[in-house]
Amino acid sequence: MLRCLFYTSLLASGESPATVTDIVRAARYKNRLQGVTGVLVFDGLALAQYLEGPPGVLAELRELLSRDRRHSGFHVRLDIEFAGPRFFPGWSLAFGICTDPEAFQRFEGREGNAAFDLFRSMLPEFDVEA
Ligand SMILES: Cc1cc2nc3c(=O)[nH]c(=O)nc-3n(C[C@H](O)[C@H](O)[C@H](O)COP(=O)(O)O)c2cc1C
Repeated sequence: MLRCLFYTSLLASGESPATVTDIVRAARYKNRLQGVTGVLVFDGLALAQYLEGPPGVLAELRELLSRDRRHSGFHVRLDIEFAGPRFFPGWSLAFGICTDPEAFQRFEGREGNAAFDLFRSMLPEFDVEA
């Protein structure tokens, strides 16, 4: 079984956008070690991240993310176990920039697969780099 997590949050006030670059660098390394794959998108303020991997690892990561003070408004929209296959097998953590400041507002009121489906449909609009 695999577990996946999709959430949205906001860069904590007082944090510079360069923090996100640091997070991605460390996360790519750690995700590779732990068998986690996923994608993070950032619009300069808002964040959206999808992660998938072994259930125990994802449970621990959810806990760490919920306590990480570099972001706020941690809002889990999807957290389920699934049989696989992975959606992003080749991405330890792809990173994308969203240049539309209103794009993330579309997640408001969307939970579960509806939120994740919207995220996936938006990925081509983001400039995602693996
Ligand atoms: C927006 C955001 C995204 C993050 N993404 C990941 C991730 O994909 N993988 C990861 O291991 N940690 C990620 N982190 C960091 C975790 O919250 C936590 O600080 C880290 O996993 C702790 O690593 P350590 O056990 O090596 O100290 C992220 C943090 C933030 C704020």
